[in-house]
Amino acid sequence: MCDALVLYGATGDLAAKMLFPALGTLARDRGVRIPIVAVGRHRESPDAILARVRERLARDDPPAVPPLDALSGPIRYVEGDLGDGATYDAIKRALAGARFPLHYLAIPPELFATVTAALARAGLAQGARIALEKPFGHDLASARALERAVEQAFPDPSAVLRIDHYLGKDPVRNVAWLRHASAWLEPLWSQANVRSVQITMAEAFGILARGAFYDEVGALRDVFQNHLLQVAALVAMEPASLAQVEAFGAARIEALRAIAPLAPEDVVFGQYEGYRDEPGVAADSRTETYLAARLAVDTPRFAGVPFYIRAGKCLPLTATTLSLELVRARTLRDDEVTAPEHLHFRLGPGTVDIVLATRRLVPGSIDAAAPLRLAGQLPADEDRDAYVNLLYAALRGDHTMSERATGVTAAWRVVDDVVHAALPVHPYPRGSWGPAEANQLLRPGERWYDPLSA
Ligand code: BG6
Repeated sequence: MCDALVLYGATGDLAAKMLFPALGTLARDRGVRIPIVAVGRHRESPDAILARVRERLARDDPPAVPPLDALSGPIRYVEGDLGDGATYDAIKRALAGARFPLHYLAIPPELFATVTAALARAGLAQGARIALEKPFGHDLASARALERAVEQAFPDPSAVLRIDHYLGKDPVRNVAWLRHASAWLEPLWSQANVRSVQITMAEAFGILARGAFYDEVGALRDVFQNHLLQVAALVAMEPASLAQVEAFGAARIEALRAIAPLAPEDVVFGQYEGYRDEPGVAADSRTETYLAARLAVDTPRFAGVPFYIRAGKCLPLTATTLSLELVRARTLRDDEVTAPEHLHFRLGPGTVDIVLATRRLVPGSIDAAAPLRLAGQLPADEDRDAYVNLLYAALRGDHTMSERATGVTAAWRVVDDVVHAALPVHPYPRGSWGPAEANQLLRPGERWYDPLSA
């Protein structure tokens, strides 16, 4: 277990929304009370930081009341520029002899290499772990360069945790668990029974106050290259036990590697109307706030099964879903048209729906489709729960929920041609399902899964 936490970006949004509440929960529920060194650019005090966290979370709908009381004691604050060696001397003093700190970088990714090199120079990497928040680089080449920089400062791979919070979400992990544990489900999970796979990450809100960050990144780098490819890999992978960390990670990364690199014609970009007026966004921005993509997975299990993925801001609702459309029975005649059968998973918040193609006899007429829905809740989950899991794992050096360097590069390889292509960006109205051009990715007769009407 680490004996201190150094939190870079301590006055930022991620720290306020996720990391301080997770630390409070760990202190209350697991008795984790290690010294916290909060690092930021501006003059602050620990009490002022916690007051701002409370105020930020009170604005949530519904307002969140995190258990922060146990934290005020162990926080020390270091003010400084991350490019200045003096900041690291001050961090060293604030660590007051802690020998196994976790350096958690909740800062813009372009600062990662600067901080890792400075930590090594200051002797702060020795015995320490480092946690990096996605995105790791902005394309394949920069991700490789970042890996080399991190490796120079932290040569032991077990000291490096790459955080993609989707790997810490219970409903996402439960997709893998169900396949491993449900004898009836696993045989369904292949091209023999699955016609197509859809993953939708819809967000009803826009870019909030993150214009400057988001405009540099866009949906492809912000959520597709990491969160959504992780979900696709969990679906595509060979089953493995979550408890066997090495084997599970290897199977997941093998699946990422089997995803064919995207070509520009496999992707449609959109931008919500009014995006260019958001604070921090360029007036002529071509950044995508929406993308739809069609993936091919080159494995015996899923060859020929399209994976359709959509993600967007300002869509009709906030929900992340995974939907497997099942193949039609061979015994069905063409005139026995029936609604498709599905397995639907709602990954945030979690539910599982199984939709079977039952019929209803309409008197004097023919049978009509009357889909039977078997629905169940997965354990309740919020993003903040994922961060409790992730932070606790990082402090203990547990790699179950973190990504490896090979996984990062496998995911960048999928999108690298597209990040460098100047794709058209189609405008779409706020509150819509994005540009109609996305329909061109589907095969005839297919439609995008709509969690609202399903
Ligand atoms: C973050 C992105 O990584 O994931 C955000 O930067 C996005 O833009 C968020 O809103 C979505 O996470 P979740 O857990 O709410 O689906």
